[in-house]
Amino acid sequence: MNQSKKRILTGDRPTGKLHLGHYVGSMKNRVALQDTYDCHFIIADLHTLTTKSEKEHVEQLDQNIYDVVLDYLAVGIDPDKSVIFLQSAIPETYELTLLLGNLVSVPRLSRLPSIKDMARAANIDDEAVPFGLVGYPVLQAADILLPRAHLVPVGKDNEAHVEITREIARRFNRTYGAEVFPEPQVMIGEVPTLVGTDGQAKMSKSLGNAIMLSDDAKTVEQKVRGMYTDPNRVRADIPGRVEGNPVFIYHDAFNPDVAEVTDLKERYLLGTVGDVEVKRKLARAINDFLEPVRERRASYASQPGLVEEILVEGTRRMQREAERTMAAVYDAMGLSGPRLRSVLRGGSERFQLTNKA
Ligand code: TRP
Repeated sequence: MNQSKKRILTGDRPTGKLHLGHYVGSMKNRVALQDTYDCHFIIADLHTLTTKSEKEHVEQLDQNIYDVVLDYLAVGIDPDKSVIFLQSAIPETYELTLLLGNLVSVPRLSRLPSIKDMARAANIDDEAVPFGLVGYPVLQAADILLPRAHLVPVGKDNEAHVEITREIARRFNRTYGAEVFPEPQVMIGEVPTLVGTDGQAKMSKSLGNAIMLSDDAKTVEQKVRGMYTDPNRVRADIPGRVEGNPVFIYHDAFNPDVAEVTDLKERYLLGTVGDVEVKRKLARAINDFLEPVRERRASYASQPGLVEEILVEGTRRMQREAERTMAAVYDAMGLSGPRLRSVLRGGSERFQLTNKA
């Protein structure tokens, strides 16, 4: 880990395989940031419990974690440059979350639109909102502050959580009179969310309008063939609409052949190109983009235990950071429990309640 590089922390809840929307919205940016920053990517499995606490959900988490880590590696996140770690493996996350919970008010948290949105999406009514869901941003603050990250690249929906993290960091430093935490800055990507293949505002697996990073070439062709285009264009020889048309949004995002895209758009506006050709070229462009992703995926997946090993190694590195941070936290707060605990763990020192020394 290079100390002169600024540290980034970001990540995802392991809810399943990633799609092109994730790539455009965050993965592409992360891959690019790896050389300039000391990147830490968290697989935030504890955060999934805030809206789903059933046993079946927890049982499915292992598969989801594997799938997300493999997707990260497939898109080009390089475990030699970046740390990929599992949130629930770091006990300090649980400790710090509890401590930070005292530095932010319940009304501040409950007012956040993101919490209400998550409750609504999970069919949780107001009376049933779990303590943990209200505390979602506090857990996220612990994720960010444990590695003492400087920058947090997230989508708009998470911006307020980083703001809460900043407030908590300031409040901690001020209350305990120590500069334990840097105030992390949010980094909002300029890339908008990718529309679904059906033209809906957002690509999402649950809406069935997603092209997965793990889809094979045939599946991509099928999905592109079924894509929504301009609904008013009933024949190929009448002018069509390019703006806001999903096939052209995807062409712009995934087809590096600008001349080809420009030509298709011009002919589409004139009514001299059919959807079939536009889609055939789009499927080819997406498959060209996905080909190296598939190769890396196959290579990582073919070595049994490799994906897990990478996660273990990343978590080991994060664990060391977490211990360092928590030592500073407990020291600043003057909590003596951790000193007692170190006696229990076989540390040689005697436990003294007052530090008269
Ligand atoms: N809240 C993020 C999401 O919406 C996931 C997440 C958990 C996260 N901890 C984080 C993102 C810390 C950035 C930093 O999926």
